[in-house]
Amino acid sequence: MSTYRIASIPGDGIGVDVQREARVVLDTAAKRFGFGLDWTEFDWSCRRYAETGSMMPADGIATLRPFDAVLLGAVGFPGVPDHVSLWGLLIPVRRAFAQYVNLRPVRLLPGTTSVLAGRDGDELEMVIVRENSEGEYSELGGRHNAGGPGEFALQESVFTRVGVERIVRYAFELARTRQHRVCSATKSNGIIHTMPFWDEIFAEVAAGYPDVEAEQLHIDALAARMVQRPDSLDVVVGSNLFGDILSDLAAAITGGLGMAPSGNINPEGEFPSMFEAVHGSAPDIAGQGIANPVAQILAAAMMLDQLGEKAAGEAVRGAVQSVLSGAAALTPDLGGDATTAEVGSAVADAL
Ligand code: NAI
Ligand code: MG
Repeated sequence: MSTYRIASIPGDGIGVDVQREARVVLDTAAKRFGFGLDWTEFDWSCRRYAETGSMMPADGIATLRPFDAVLLGAVGFPGVPDHVSLWGLLIPVRRAFAQYVNLRPVRLLPGTTSVLAGRDGDELEMVIVRENSEGEYSELGGRHNAGGPGEFALQESVFTRVGVERIVRYAFELARTRQHRVCSATKSNGIIHTMPFWDEIFAEVAAGYPDVEAEQLHIDALAARMVQRPDSLDVVVGSNLFGDILSDLAAAITGGLGMAPSGNINPEGEFPSMFEAVHGSAPDIAGQGIANPVAQILAAAMMLDQLGEKAAGEAVRGAVQSVLSGAAALTPDLGGDATTAEVGSAVADAL
């Protein structure tokens, strides 16, 4: 029997609630499919930052290194600036472990309705492939002439040939397992150095995949397309910033943030990958026991896929679908009155 070592970082706010349910579901899946999960829990969070001055210990990255995967709730706490949680935990992990793919599949699940009128499940099924290690989220730049009339801020983007090529290639490979269509998010009319470079590499890689339909759209037009003709999109590839924005939009037009999972993936498997819901710690509903755990449970299913337990991953997704279509346990964001724990138990029972 294989046993996987999993690092659990529940984080803050509803991260803690949804993580508990994801673990219940994963432990049930492990029992049913005959593998072991060896959990180690870490209290790394904004709460820890408020108490000790750091999100994780200095040797945090080295501590995570031997694990097979990381399951993260969400981090964010009123009073702690958002850049602290991002740069103090998420970005260091993503970069140290070369998790250069941020994969965000979205799909309208049964029992839920889209905010887009008249769209059903088959038309709302796509995956956003977001570059996760460079791009617009860079430390290069600074603020100058502080306080004076000439004060300014400068923020540089980093696009490397290696970085762009590998994310675009990942998107094309993924499209081969789906509907054979890739759409690239660009803005080469306004951003005249990095975006033409991105487009050039996209075209080079596309040439090697004649069986995959390649298209590129400016980010603004692509945002409009996602709302007006979501059925025309299959795999969407974008830079760190564009991919971030598009994935929240894609989540919003499917079941909302409570339903959207994501994986920070090191495709070569040299380092642990990290799985998390797209949503944050939702301080507005934290502590009420009403957060929708579906996104985190689906993130856990992606983790099972990555560990090689694909049948278990599929079964978890199936269990979520059956709970949602039966409408037996829905949290308030889906119009129900079930608690986080009730939804978690319902999914585990369905499994
Ligand atoms: P958010 O995703 O936490 O919440 C946005 C809205 O969606 C809120 O009204 C919330 O109640 C609702 N929502 C989110 N997840 C839900 C769920 N599972 N069930 C039901 N409703 C849900 O984003 P927001 O408010 O911008 O950020 C709050 C904190 O979370 C901030 O500190 C932010 O930095 C952090 N954050 C952390 C992320 C991470 O850990 N990867 C990602 C995004 C935000
Ligand atoms: Mg985001």
